Amino acid sequence: MGINILGMGSYLPEQILTNDDFKKFVDTNDEWIRTRTGIQSRHMSGWEPVWYMAKQAALDAISKAGIDPGDIGLVICTTVTPDFLTPSTASIIQYELGIENAAAFDLNAACSGFVYMMDTARRFLETDGSMKYALIVSSEALSRFMDYEDRGTCILFGDGAAAAVIERSDKMYSSFLGSDGSGARKLFARNCSVAPQVKVESDFDDGFPEKPVHQLYQDGREVYKFAVKALPKAFRSAAEKIGVTSADIDWFIPHQANIRIIETAAKSLEVSTDKFIVTIDHHGNTSSASIPLALCEALENGRVTRGQKLALVGFGAGLTYGSVIIEY
Ligand code: COA
Repeated sequence: MGINILGMGSYLPEQILTNDDFKKFVDTNDEWIRTRTGIQSRHMSGWEPVWYMAKQAALDAISKAGIDPGDIGLVICTTVTPDFLTPSTASIIQYELGIENAAAFDLNAACSGFVYMMDTARRFLETDGSMKYALIVSSEALSRFMDYEDRGTCILFGDGAAAAVIERSDKMYSSFLGSDGSGARKLFARNCSVAPQVKVESDFDDGFPEKPVHQLYQDGREVYKFAVKALPKAFRSAAEKIGVTSADIDWFIPHQANIRIIETAAKSLEVSTDKFIVTIDHHGNTSSASIPLALCEALENGRVTRGQKLALVGFGAGLTYGSVIIEY
């Protein structure tokens, strides 16, 4: 069973940070950021909470889908930067939009979140015949979790939200979800500090680089090495299940982390970069919102059209990776 995307929506915060703006915090310059990452600017939430961005994106998606919110049976939200540890952002969206008959929960697979969420929602739709529509929303404000003295990291991320309303269909579909927890130390943000005197049976907490709680740490080079392998692997693993190849795909919509990662993945898949939707130049890395924001923009400017085959491919902290192949 596949899915049909009925409508997509997005929200980008008003405030925009250019590369030059970062010169106020760190020793950097526009040329370095452009050539090493492909980023020129990114949006930054100032007054907008994550749930608010999620709500705006969801409203947009519901309006484009032209459905009654009362027919939504499931709300999932992906975010690594929720305003509340609990309740879930999905529960807030559900309340704010008056979606009365829905289950609601958050899902965290870091930057792979949208791919994980789409596949999870599809499974709900497949197994619960009474569920008509699922609302899936990604909303992120990584700007609040940056170390603005770490010039290799703070320049990469941006904020934003995007959402989709989906229903079951008999269109082509495949997915692959993967995880390698041994890479936890390469990309993480702590939510609370550990008590060193407390001994647990696992040594999992050992060996993490020092970083204050609520600040993102990344080993950029290691994450880069992981990403250039994970993107092609995730696509191929999903594609092989249904006997398609990269030549069958009209558009690749990858996680927007670094233009060089996208170019290397394209080379590995023997696909022209022209078949990749790229928005990193004006969005930066918006974590789980990056893939749906890119897809939403491609729908709005008419690049992606009905009947085309799309490969959504993500990777992120965990380390997680995954791909969903759909027909739009
Ligand atoms: N401005 C200027 N110089 C910078 C800089 C910045 N913003 N950030 C780092 N540098 C410097 C480094 O200090 C280093 O200087 P040195 O040679 O004097 O030590 C030099 O640039 C090269 O650093 P390096 O880390 O090797 O650069 P890089 O080409 O690997 O690019 C990243 C760094 C972070 C852009 C790149 O590794 C990357 O994109 N990794 C993946 C990160 C990612 O995708 N994370 C999210 C995953 S969901």
